[in-house]
Amino acid sequence: MAVEIKNAEEIEKMRATCRLAASVLEFIEPHVKPGVSTGHLDRLCHEYIMDHGAYPSPLNYKGFPKSICTSINEVVCHGIPNDKQLLRDGDIINLDITTTLDGYFGDCSDMFAVGEISERARRLITVTRECLWLGIREVAPKKRLGDIGAAIYEYAAGRHGYGVVEVFCGHGIGREFHMAPQVSHVGRRGTGRRMKTGMTFTIEPMINLGTPDCEILDDGWTAVTLDRRLSAQAEHTILVTKSGFEVLTLREGGYVPGDLDLDAAS
Ligand code: MF3
Ligand code: CO
Ligand code: CO
Repeated sequence: MAVEIKNAEEIEKMRATCRLAASVLEFIEPHVKPGVSTGHLDRLCHEYIMDHGAYPSPLNYKGFPKSICTSINEVVCHGIPNDKQLLRDGDIINLDITTTLDGYFGDCSDMFAVGEISERARRLITVTRECLWLGIREVAPKKRLGDIGAAIYEYAAGRHGYGVVEVFCGHGIGREFHMAPQVSHVGRRGTGRRMKTGMTFTIEPMINLGTPDCEILDDGWTAVTLDRRLSAQAEHTILVTKSGFEVLTLREGGYVPGDLDLDAAS
């Protein structure tokens, strides 16, 4: 399958939808605290997205019943918001937001700490965000998609002994939620498709404290770690530019590596 190359007009639309998706994370952050239900977070995000003239892409996507994904602790991804599921002190939660604005999809996610979390959980979150950015830093025309996964795997598994989830990947994105190419987080350098200016795709590593293996619960969506140990994820939508990359889902207060000059990179 060919990978779509976006023209200037399409890139502007990608920027707009991605900016909106990122702003949802900014908006929702102060609401993430002990005692709040994931169903409540879902409703707040749903309203915010609709109020901005967009649509919450997960809603009814392949039958997904809610507007965002809420993945707590051992949940790897695709957790379904629920009014009876209350956040507890010490939980870690991934909020995954996808918006459709003017026909274009923007996709991002990040981890949030509920009250006070353990040092172990905090380290997992930090390494996961570092993994995302190690992957992002591999993005440039003529480099290969395998370089992204290799950078992530070497750091998460090689350096930290974490499990890198292989069954869920990043993906091309644009006028569709998920399109070519697949972006594995377990790659080999010098392999895979070459990146080209104008491609847009996500990088969204899921990093586990223990085994990389997952299973899907009976609801048909919720992916959990096989050993039920913690999992973390962070996601950005990326544009390949002439000199490297542009991160389309940046937000105020989001993690960016201290030594990185974003203007020079794009
Ligand atoms: N946002 C997820 C991703 O990063 C996909 C969620 S699909 C849903 O690709 F149906 F669960 F919403
Ligand atoms: Co995605
Ligand atoms: Co997502």
